[in-house]
Amino acid sequence: VRPLRVAVLGCGSVGSQVVRLLDEQSDDLAARIGAPLELVGVAVRRLDAPREVEVPAGLLTTDAQGLVARDDVDLVVEVIGGIEPARGLILSALEHGAAVVTANKALLAADGPTLFDAAAQAGRDLFYEASVAGAIPILRPLRESLAGDRVTRVLGIVNGTTNFILDRMDTSGAGFAEALEEAQDLGYAEADPTADVEGFDAAAKAAILASLAFHSRVTADDVHREGISEVTAADVQSAREMGSVVKLLAIAELRRNADGDEAVAVRVHPAMIPASHPLASVREAYNAVFVESRAAGQLMFYGPGAGGAPTASAVLGDLVTVARNRLSGRSGPGESAYADRPVLPMGETVTRYH
Ligand code: HSE
Repeated sequence: VRPLRVAVLGCGSVGSQVVRLLDEQSDDLAARIGAPLELVGVAVRRLDAPREVEVPAGLLTTDAQGLVARDDVDLVVEVIGGIEPARGLILSALEHGAAVVTANKALLAADGPTLFDAAAQAGRDLFYEASVAGAIPILRPLRESLAGDRVTRVLGIVNGTTNFILDRMDTSGAGFAEALEEAQDLGYAEADPTADVEGFDAAAKAAILASLAFHSRVTADDVHREGISEVTAADVQSAREMGSVVKLLAIAELRRNADGDEAVAVRVHPAMIPASHPLASVREAYNAVFVESRAAGQLMFYGPGAGGAPTASAVLGDLVTVARNRLSGRSGPGESAYADRPVLPMGETVTRYH
């Protein structure tokens, strides 16, 4: 069997772990896929930047566009993040016949439909399990395992940095700034921590979760958003006195719109959760997604939601699936089936807090 050729775009904390796992687990990956994976290029911004992993000589390139335009690349992993150049590179990879695995929550939440349409048109896979809650398998369960059930609500702790900060404020009485600094030192925060503390990162993930849970096309613009920068040590303390903890929640649920039709409402804000709720036990930088559905009842998906290796685990899982599909000439579920339910405009999403 000929090897499937893989290009990796980005070699930061996630990309370097993807490169490492491709090498260290090459035998297992080949066995699970039915063909070996061959790394043919790693696109980076600077050739001389310090890296967590040694990339084999000759594979590093600053020409990401040239790499995705190669006709012999079967699978492209995009772990650059942000909107551009990631969007242009993913579209170009699909056009050139590659399947794509991405961890890019911001891009999917801003402009997912453009990417899904391009993938459908190319007849290629676009998988993105790593974009929400790092290592936790949650998108596939929502899209596939629960496809025969009816999800009614999703509550997520999907940003590790803010959960870490709120947990530190709760357990050690630390102030916001001190706890943020600690989260940054541990490498949880985004390059610009505003995306974490003001809820932009959680809102992007909420849009992706809501789209899959409720078969709709929710973008970040539909998500009402409040961050945690206004939460004080005193707020956390008084929640504790009431037997609760403060968590930044991403909430997606079904409501009625003005026409009386069922619509999706999505919001992110700090909320008080009773200590007895399973989400209250999510500590430090862990993530969890609590799903309520008609037949299954209550489910909780829990694990590390950030960090290079955990996120790379989800990327590699997707890579195995798209590689298998590639070999068998199939492609995974298209996203066009997910456009059938209206979304409430942002101003109408907040009617009550939990
Ligand atoms: N900054 C993000 C977090 C990283 O803290 O959860 C994972 O998306």
